[in-house]
Amino acid sequence: MKKKTLKATLFSLVIGLLMLVSACGATEKATSGGTDSKEKQKLRVVTDAAYAPMESMDGDKIVGFDVDVLDAVLKEAGYDYELVHVGWDPLFVELKSKRADIGISSITIDEDRKQTYDFSVPYFESINKILVPEDSGIQSGADLKGKTIAVQNGTTGQAVAEGILGKNNKDIKKFENNVLAIMELLKGGADAVVADNAVVEEYVKNNPNKKLKVVTDSSFPSEFYGMMLPKGSKIKEDIDKAIKKVVENGTYANMYKKVFGSEPDLKELEK
Ligand code: ARG
Repeated sequence: MKKKTLKATLFSLVIGLLMLVSACGATEKATSGGTDSKEKQKLRVVTDAAYAPMESMDGDKIVGFDVDVLDAVLKEAGYDYELVHVGWDPLFVELKSKRADIGISSITIDEDRKQTYDFSVPYFESINKILVPEDSGIQSGADLKGKTIAVQNGTTGQAVAEGILGKNNKDIKKFENNVLAIMELLKGGADAVVADNAVVEEYVKNNPNKKLKVVTDSSFPSEFYGMMLPKGSKIKEDIDKAIKKVVENGTYANMYKKVFGSEPDLKELEK
C-alpha cells in the first residue's frame, strides 16, 4: 500500500514537472517571437575598416558613420548582428558566397556590382575627389594625365583613374586599402590619390602636418552608398524599411551632424 502511494506521488510529480517545462517553453516562444512571427537570425556584417570617418579601427573596436548607421538600422529592424573587419576584397567574396549577410563599407551602388549583389536603398551621397600635395599643380581630373595615381583596388576611385589614364595603365597603382594608397602619396610614389570625398577631406583635416589638399572635379559622377547584400537576400525589405525609418525620424540627421558637423542633404536620399 505504501509503495503504491509512493509510485503515485512520483508519477504525479513527473507529470507536474513535464507540464511546467512545456509551459515555460510556450512562454519563451511567445516572448522571443514578439508580435511578428519572423525568426530573426544573428547577422554577420563585414567591412573594410580602413576608411575613416566611415569605418576604421579604434583599438579593437570598429567605429565610424557607417557603423552608426548600421547599428541604428539593425536596431530598428530588430536584428542582432556581429560586425567584422575582413578587408575590402574578402568582403565581396563573403557576400558572393553568402557567408556574410551584409557588407557595409562605403560601398557605391553601381550597375556592375548589381549583377552579382543586391543593395539596400541608398543611405549616403558621395563623389570621388583628388588628394594631392599642397604645392601640386593638379587642379582637375584632366591634369592627372601623365601622372601616377594611387587608388584602393577595386573601388570607384580606380574606375575614375582608369577613365582618365586608361585601363591597365601601370601609372595607376592599386592598393589593398586606402591607407596604403595615401602612404604611397606621402612617400612620393604617386602624384595623387583618388578616393571618396568624406575620406580624403577627413584626412586633410586631421593631418595638417602632412601638407596635402583636396581637389574637386565636379565632372566625376555622383555616387550613392548602399548596404550590399547577397543576391536574393531575404532581409532586403526589412533593411530598406528600417533605413527609410531612420532617415524619416531624425536619427540619421543626428548621427550625421555628430560625425560631419553639418546637416545631411536628405532630398537626394529620399528620391
Ligand atoms: N565608394 C567606393 C567604392 O564603392 C570606395 C569604398 C571603399 N570602402 C572602404 N571601406 N575602403 O568603390
